[in-house]
Amino acid sequence: MNYEDLMKNAIEVSKKAYTPYSKFNVGACVLTESDKTYCGCNFENASFGLTICAERNAIGSAIADGERKIKAIAIYSPNQDNCTPCGACRQVISEFCDDNTDIIVKIGDNLKVYKITELLPERFTL
Ligand code: THU
Repeated sequence: MNYEDLMKNAIEVSKKAYTPYSKFNVGACVLTESDKTYCGCNFENASFGLTICAERNAIGSAIADGERKIKAIAIYSPNQDNCTPCGACRQVISEFCDDNTDIIVKIGDNLKVYKITELLPERFTL
């Protein structure tokens, strides 16, 4: 799937986000090694710390389907241009990506592609 379509999926799923507290919707769509796609949105909780981010929701679905390698992930928020993943999500993406993985965000009408080495330099691995 091309990155425009991957981003369209992220935009679509961002509409499903459950965000009664922050009203900050996020959608993510993961493209895996076997060219499958998995979408996720953020969903919040009255106990705020239990909120699940869109990226981790999408990655969880990919993992549950047996996928282990992320080729690309598109992330979108209608609330913010250049909606890059939070620190926790960067670490989770890092677990399933390599240095070639594209992390795609939207800035106006354009897509911007980051690498994990830029977003999480000197990342922790075992
Ligand atoms: N959020 C995400 O879904 N992904 C991120 O990478 C950053 C934050 C969500 C969590 C919360 O529901 C809202 O955005 C505001 O923090």
